[in-house]
Amino acid sequence: MGEVEISGAKNAAVAIIPATILADGPCIIENVPNISDVSIAIRILYEMGADIKMINKSTIQIDSTRIMEPVVPYEMARHMRASYYFLGTLLGKFGRARVSMPGGCDLGDRPIDQHIKAFKALGASCVIDHGMVNAYADNLVGAQIYLDVVTVGATINAMLAAVKASGLTVIENAAKEPHVVDLANFLNSMGADIMGAGTDVIKIRGVSKLNGANYSIIPDQIEAGTFMIAAAATKGDVLIKNIIPKHLEPITAKLEKIGVNIEEFDDSIRVWVDGPLVKTSVKTMPHPGFPTDMQPQIAALLTLAEGTSIITEGVWDNRFRYVDELRRMGADISVDGKVAVIEGTGRLTGAPVKATDLRAGAALIIAGLAATGTTEIEDIYHIERGYENMDLKLRGLGADIIKRNIPGSAVRKAIG
Ligand code: EPU
Repeated sequence: MGEVEISGAKNAAVAIIPATILADGPCIIENVPNISDVSIAIRILYEMGADIKMINKSTIQIDSTRIMEPVVPYEMARHMRASYYFLGTLLGKFGRARVSMPGGCDLGDRPIDQHIKAFKALGASCVIDHGMVNAYADNLVGAQIYLDVVTVGATINAMLAAVKASGLTVIENAAKEPHVVDLANFLNSMGADIMGAGTDVIKIRGVSKLNGANYSIIPDQIEAGTFMIAAAATKGDVLIKNIIPKHLEPITAKLEKIGVNIEEFDDSIRVWVDGPLVKTSVKTMPHPGFPTDMQPQIAALLTLAEGTSIITEGVWDNRFRYVDELRRMGADISVDGKVAVIEGTGRLTGAPVKATDLRAGAALIIAGLAATGTTEIEDIYHIERGYENMDLKLRGLGADIIKRNIPGSAVRKAIG
């Protein structure tokens, strides 16, 4: 049996790192994943004047108290979707923020209207000019915020802006993802008063001061889920360590239906396959539904299962761009709008393919591991935005995988 250690959660880290701006002292953050989205968030803080110290390879001390100017330069922020968390955190700290419209994976339309709605409810005015979002408030005042769609980003941004507002803020129809809870726990460890994170109503009583804190980021459930599927696709037997089994339940339940064996321990999970994989249907939904960030990976697995599987994407408009790449590897998948129909062929063949986004890249790695012959994946900078040492970790499990730097490709690397 192989063993692999899961890193800290990307989508928690990219919220917690900007949130250190709210503290009136240094924060020590542990279990920080070494991925490019996190490097960009740290770099933004550094450029703004924060004092950053690496304590060890996954622990970092951030002192943001010297940041004076609540502006994130266009060139830095546009490379990363989660740069919008600087809006909430700067608005919460200074009552002002100027941040570029966010970049990130191309998954279809990615509006930020609900973020703006939350800031406005708290008393801020928001204007978009020259590709920058400007938010401003004399005083932020607690308010009732009803989110029209369940959104992780707007839930987190509303918390960041409200944590120091005067009075009570109630966020209704809030996202319940583990990283939403992790950010609330971090803010509470700084002295915030947030209740209900992980349910669809979050109550925040504003406090006047937040202290520095020591905090360890939760394990990345999507990285863990990706290794679970890699184990299943290769009919392997893998112990996945440093995880929270509860966060993996939507993934575990689906994999068991496909015929994958799973045994849970306190902070690890064993995944193995000793029989046929069978078809299923999957619909992605906000937590605790099946995560959209696991949709391409499970599609790769279902190409290897017996029978016809159906995947419905319930979060993003356009998350099937990877299908053309899987077809090059022999997959039989047809897509109509938000629904993909997969005829399991039980077999994939290696081919040259391109990662079109982060999770698409993970799906191609899974397909490449299971395929006969060699697969060459181009544009792996997408994968490096969200997976720490994926090649090393897979080699540790016996995979034959190497990473090559192709001259000229580095310039595109930062464009996430
Ligand atoms: N939406 C709106 N208006 C808004 C915000 C969102 O209509 O103001 C819609 C979106 O268009 C989408 C849905 O609400 O249809 C959900 O979007 P959400 O705001 O939850 O997504 P996000 O915060 O931009 C985060 C993750 C994504 C993940 C989604 C859904 C981060 C940095 N990103 O994005 O992660 O897919 O939540 O769980 O936390 C990834 O890691 O590969 C990734 C794309």
